[in-house]
Amino acid sequence: MGAAVTDTPRPRTRRTPEDLRSHQWYGTDGLRSFSHRARTRQLGYLPEEHLGKPVVAILNTWSDINPCHQHLRERAEAVKRGVWQAGGFPLEFPVSTLSETFQKPTPMLYRNLLSLETEELLRSYPVDGAVLMGGCDKTTPALLMGAASVDLPTVFVPAGPMLRGHWRGETLGSGTDMWKYWDDRRAGLIGDCEMAELECGLARSPGHCMTMGTASTMTGAAEVLGVTMPGASSIPAVDSGHSRMAAAAGRRIVEMVWEDHRLSTVLTREAYEDAVAAVCALGGSTNAVIHLIAMAGRSGVGLTLDDFDRIARTTPVLANLRPGGKYLMEDFHYAGGMPGFLSRLRDLLHLDRPTVAHDTLREQIAGALVHDDDVIRTVDEPLAEEGGIAVLRGNLAPDGAVIKHIAAEQHLLKHTGPAVVFDDYRTMQARINDPALEITAESVLVLRGSGPLGGPGMPEYGMLPIPDHLLKQGVRDMVRLSDARMSGTSYGACVLHIAPESHVGGPLALVETGDLITLDVAARTLRLEVDDAELARRRAEWRPPAARYGRGYGALYEEHVTQADAGCDFAFLARPGEVPEPYAG
Ligand code: FES
Ligand code: MG
Repeated sequence: MGAAVTDTPRPRTRRTPEDLRSHQWYGTDGLRSFSHRARTRQLGYLPEEHLGKPVVAILNTWSDINPCHQHLRERAEAVKRGVWQAGGFPLEFPVSTLSETFQKPTPMLYRNLLSLETEELLRSYPVDGAVLMGGCDKTTPALLMGAASVDLPTVFVPAGPMLRGHWRGETLGSGTDMWKYWDDRRAGLIGDCEMAELECGLARSPGHCMTMGTASTMTGAAEVLGVTMPGASSIPAVDSGHSRMAAAAGRRIVEMVWEDHRLSTVLTREAYEDAVAAVCALGGSTNAVIHLIAMAGRSGVGLTLDDFDRIARTTPVLANLRPGGKYLMEDFHYAGGMPGFLSRLRDLLHLDRPTVAHDTLREQIAGALVHDDDVIRTVDEPLAEEGGIAVLRGNLAPDGAVIKHIAAEQHLLKHTGPAVVFDDYRTMQARINDPALEITAESVLVLRGSGPLGGPGMPEYGMLPIPDHLLKQGVRDMVRLSDARMSGTSYGACVLHIAPESHVGGPLALVETGDLITLDVAARTLRLEVDDAELARRRAEWRPPAARYGRGYGALYEEHVTQADAGCDFAFLARPGEVPEPYAG
């Protein structure tokens, strides 16, 4: 079983009730304080239930439209239980839900909106500490980006993975097996009856995707960063241990407020480097590159694509999890979970940095065990010698691109082939099976118009479908390039996040069908084999597309979003600067 989550009390210099931020709202002798106390009576609380106690905001991304967070409504009660037990005053705040499967065009369009909401809620209310509840893909970075910008004592409660999927004796991974069986259906290998059964078996409990997709990658990264209770990120959502962990987080945050143990003491450069190493060793999602760069930016840490490539080169893949490996998060938890995994990775980590629960990461993982060496490999017998993510550069990606090379057919990692270019996703969908395109297994499929602005929101279009006629011949992987992202549960020789994107005139905008493109992962290069004079001629003819949004949030997004290599944050949120405390007496 995964490591037990236990409380870890530490003696510290304690603040007094008068030091609390919430004291300004409740504790002074003025009209406003009188009003705030009267309104708290209206909420049904006596003075002794809240005055002088740390106010803990519980930010909950629960919603009926988010199957991954179904259990968070009741799990918030466990957090409150812990807050009350430790002498705090819990207040739950519903925040916007980013439901990966349902929200269009992509929840990535709204990650910064949730981060902004998180920041402004924490700032504008009488909050002394925060517990953030999320896990479905973008919710983890969004909540942590916002919280990092406010810098209160903060604990993240990860939603936990769903149970393993099942179908006719097979273990199914959400996402990963959805793509696989959909391809089997298109190849005529399975029918409607099997598909109906698969609908019931792919995702069969509350919790986030249980492959090493973006959700497991980012909640795992949160634990490595040190912002969760120890062992929290791999506990299955429906395991009773999840409630115990949530209550422990509630107790801990109250102590953190008294200790003034702020997020900035945990989210250091060392912590982010360890998160990158862990993401690589997990065989994690390429989305982590964008999210960690954005999160680090909010912490004042200049994490770059080069940090990912450098760390990946010396980090072995130890987690044998789909889509790169064999098992699922439930297996990972039983094998020792994140503490066991980190104990294997310890020589690559900064062990002397603090976490929310311990003075050092070394203390946090002391005594952690691994119970299954096939699920969590040893450094001597890794799944792969080198971390799964590589950063490519070249005339086609001057500001970089990424590829998850462990999830690709290895013969494609050095490949030259003729481009087949699609200007946008709709065109690609309409034409991918058009015999006139004469697509072969050697072709390089190119999708543009799918970046942060072009998508918009950089949708997960990066795993372009293999044309039907090639699928029927048994082709399961091809070199594919785009300025899009790819679902963490996807796989294939897909070059992603090409920057600058085509929408702003990146070289991807200049590729023509028939151009030769060379991918060489070992050399970390991506080249368009067209000479500079011809590219200059094409550039002179290129015209930027018109803005898509006339008003509203989309217009705000278009005006401020940064490119993939900078994390797709809003420039005005990413930049350093003072924000005054809001309380005006
Ligand atoms: Fe929510 Fe995969 S859909 S984590
Ligand atoms: Mg996903």
